[in-house]
Amino acid sequence: MAPVPPTLVSCGTLEEPLVLTVAWTGIVNTIPPKTYISVRPQRHSYPVLRQREEFVINLPGADLARAVDYCGVKSGSQVDKFKEMGLSPIASHQVEAPTIAQCPVSLECRVSQIIPMGSHDMFLADIVNVTVDESCVGADGKLLLSRCDFLAYAHGSYFSLGKELGTFGFSVRRKKRPGKSKKTFHTPKKKEK
Ligand SMILES: Cc1cc2nc3c(=O)[nH]c(=O)nc-3n(C[C@H](O)[C@H](O)[C@H](O)COP(=O)(O)O)c2cc1C
Repeated sequence: MAPVPPTLVSCGTLEEPLVLTVAWTGIVNTIPPKTYISVRPQRHSYPVLRQREEFVINLPGADLARAVDYCGVKSGSQVDKFKEMGLSPIASHQVEAPTIAQCPVSLECRVSQIIPMGSHDMFLADIVNVTVDESCVGADGKLLLSRCDFLAYAHGSYFSLGKELGTFGFSVRRKKRPGKSKKTFHTPKKKEK
């Protein structure tokens, strides 16, 4: 499955924050909003995720590619990844797990179920709050995707997003005919007497 989002998952507390890179994640329900992360029990963050039943999925921009890789190869048992990568843990709104200030979008999550899958355990969670960097929100309140500059991960490589190919529903949307940008109304000609 590629590309997938390489996210920075933060857990623990503001005083003792932990962070690891997670690419096994996604949205599984709209109403109520639900997500999951799959984490190997061997990870240093695992017992904290399990005990506190909270985490934040932070979506990094391309400028954080190095931090994403670092947080995915170094363990919190050896280094303070926040300090090493200059990441700032800040208070979240609905959970005690910290948000990462440098990420344009953060999803605050509360675990509802832990499902052992084999190599990984799946943490199914409710998304209880979403924060978005003000600079990434347009006047209409919509997310300005180009400003977020999200990362993608495919078969061991990191990418930034390419050019936009269309918007939701473009495959079925009626095309404007060239030279007919305004709506025209057909007025029936008066019958000639
Ligand atoms: C791009 C990328 C994606 C990763 N995705 C996951 C994942 O979905 N689940 C997981 O358990 N580990 C994943 N890892 C590995 C962990 O992030 C890595 O083992 C990390 O060092 C664990 O940190 P910790 O020991 O401080 O908890 C990924 C690593 C990278 C580089």
